[in-house]
Amino acid sequence: MSDAFVTRSLDEIRFWSRIMKEHSLFLRLGFRAEDTQLIAEANHFQAIFEDIERRSHVFSVDTDPQTIRAFNTEVQNAATHIWAFKRRILGLILQCKLPGGTNFPLLVDHVSREANYFRNRLDELNRGRLEPLHDAIIDENLFFLKIMADHAKFIGHLLDPSERKLVDQAREFSHEFDQLVFQAIDLSSMRPQSQTVPLLSQFVDENKVSVKSLRDFKKTASDLIEQCRIKSIIHPLLADHVFREAERFLIILDMFDQSLSGHKVNKREILF
Ligand SMILES: [Fe+2]
Ligand SMILES: [Fe+2]
Repeated sequence: MSDAFVTRSLDEIRFWSRIMKEHSLFLRLGFRAEDTQLIAEANHFQAIFEDIERRSHVFSVDTDPQTIRAFNTEVQNAATHIWAFKRRILGLILQCKLPGGTNFPLLVDHVSREANYFRNRLDELNRGRLEPLHDAIIDENLFFLKIMADHAKFIGHLLDPSERKLVDQAREFSHEFDQLVFQAIDLSSMRPQSQTVPLLSQFVDENKVSVKSLRDFKKTASDLIEQCRIKSIIHPLLADHVFREAERFLIILDMFDQSLSGHKVNKREILF
């Protein structure tokens, strides 16, 4: 049990600390040259998460769970601080106090939601209170489908307008994922009666198909940007970043798929 706690904690921290480190860089790139205080704060968070990422790779499955528990608390604290920083930036942008900056409000909101997800996960791990499967399936999908819908919108807006075909493809993904978000909201609203194995399996399978095709689109875009074959203002690291987040979602969907197939015997019953 302790091993699972250590493995799971390290996996979350290794993935999300790198993500938080990169958010700090992206936000900094979107500030104006005169926003020296915000730039310094972004650099500070980049250094903090780089250090956390490095230390997470020093620990292993054999590390004492108590050490990991303390590490989780420390990282959760850092995630809370970067979340507050992101929300403060969002406030400044929405009050038009950073005119000429290039961070979209939706992007800042988006990265703050990811920080919030990270700190909640660490909190759940330390309390030993991970959500039961039937709720996790709906809640994780609600979170990640919105994240995927946002990514499609960012890609569509950061590609050069002359890349007409790619912009169209990004818009189609945006629409597709908005529809999936609404389906997830509907399924959530019908809880707990909607939490049957056949409905949840179908929900996971359908989302998986769409996430795979978005993941492939991101991979293609990322390669094209890396090779300088398309026109955009997308940082190559951002293209890779959103690709990795889609991969993460797919791993979670596969995990749900496997857990659900273990419940096939009573498949007409509500999954509790
Ligand atoms: Fe991200
Ligand atoms: Fe993201």
